[in-house]
Amino acid sequence: MGFPEIRPRRLRSSESVRELVRETRLSPGNLVYPLFVLPGSGTKQEVEAMPGVSRCSPDMIGGEVKRAARLGIPAVLLFGVNEAKDERGSSAWKKDGAVQTAVRRIKDLEPELTVITDVCLCAYTESGHCGVLRGGKVDNDATLELLAKAALSHAEAGADIVAPSDMMDGRVAAIRKALDAGGFGDTAIMAYSAKYASAFYGPFREAADCAPKSGDRKTYQMDPANAREAVREALLDAQEGADIVMVKPALAYLDIIRAVRNASPVPVAAYNVSGEYSMIKTAAARGLVDGERAMMETLLSIRRAGADIIITYFALEAAKLLEGK
Ligand code: PBG
Repeated sequence: MGFPEIRPRRLRSSESVRELVRETRLSPGNLVYPLFVLPGSGTKQEVEAMPGVSRCSPDMIGGEVKRAARLGIPAVLLFGVNEAKDERGSSAWKKDGAVQTAVRRIKDLEPELTVITDVCLCAYTESGHCGVLRGGKVDNDATLELLAKAALSHAEAGADIVAPSDMMDGRVAAIRKALDAGGFGDTAIMAYSAKYASAFYGPFREAADCAPKSGDRKTYQMDPANAREAVREALLDAQEGADIVMVKPALAYLDIIRAVRNASPVPVAAYNVSGEYSMIKTAAARGLVDGERAMMETLLSIRRAGADIIITYFALEAAKLLEGK
């Protein structure tokens, strides 16, 4: 049988039938909302490169956190910004650092909300690199214990999940070992497993003030040309104890999300990064695309590619639309 008996359009004829046959669904429960935290108190600043996104001190974080929880978003992801910088990135594991303080505050306000923390050194090192330098190069093995210290300090503050974004080899195992030795066997690890050296992080680097002072991140972040390597990275991280693996960015890497989804024994997250966000926001502000539709289509495509979890600056806006609020 073929046309005219077979007519795929029958199943597109009304919103209710489209609802019935929809293959992919997006719900607030799939979303993670990233937040930038500044040290000190009483501060809130707009991030110019990311319309609608701001950075604030831990005492000013309550509004956004409560809004996220009310909209059914299960988790936030914290980035520390503007802390003192030194060679080793030692502000990354300060007990009273912005991230550590914010974790404690969020756990006070919304104990049920899952708190994820980004673990990296780039916002804390003078060089702006994600690891410590030796002879001008990022020293993989010397960086591992520092990342483990940062992750442990987040767990001590009450973080539920730590998310290493540095791309050093062996860091998941090093962090798992440190967490277990510190009595944090229940703290999970979401590894930025396939993190590409991408132009789409541009606006984030303004928000987090973490651009490398010299060189680039190509000796540790992945080459955009590679797909098999992403699967290898994800499998290695899962073997080392990652509870969730991540692909980042999302939109130019939908094939990678699918490949990792097919191979991975653990849930897959995708990071809809700052550049992807700002492109839609800017085009919408100029009237070139319908911002809400472009946002929902993008998020749905990331789910369709296979992501269980989407980290996105659109989380509040998308959840509001999905909940009809
Ligand atoms: C830090 C880090 C970056 C992002 C998340 N963690 C920046 C980078 O690697 O340069 C990017 C997030 C975004 O662009 O939204 N290592």
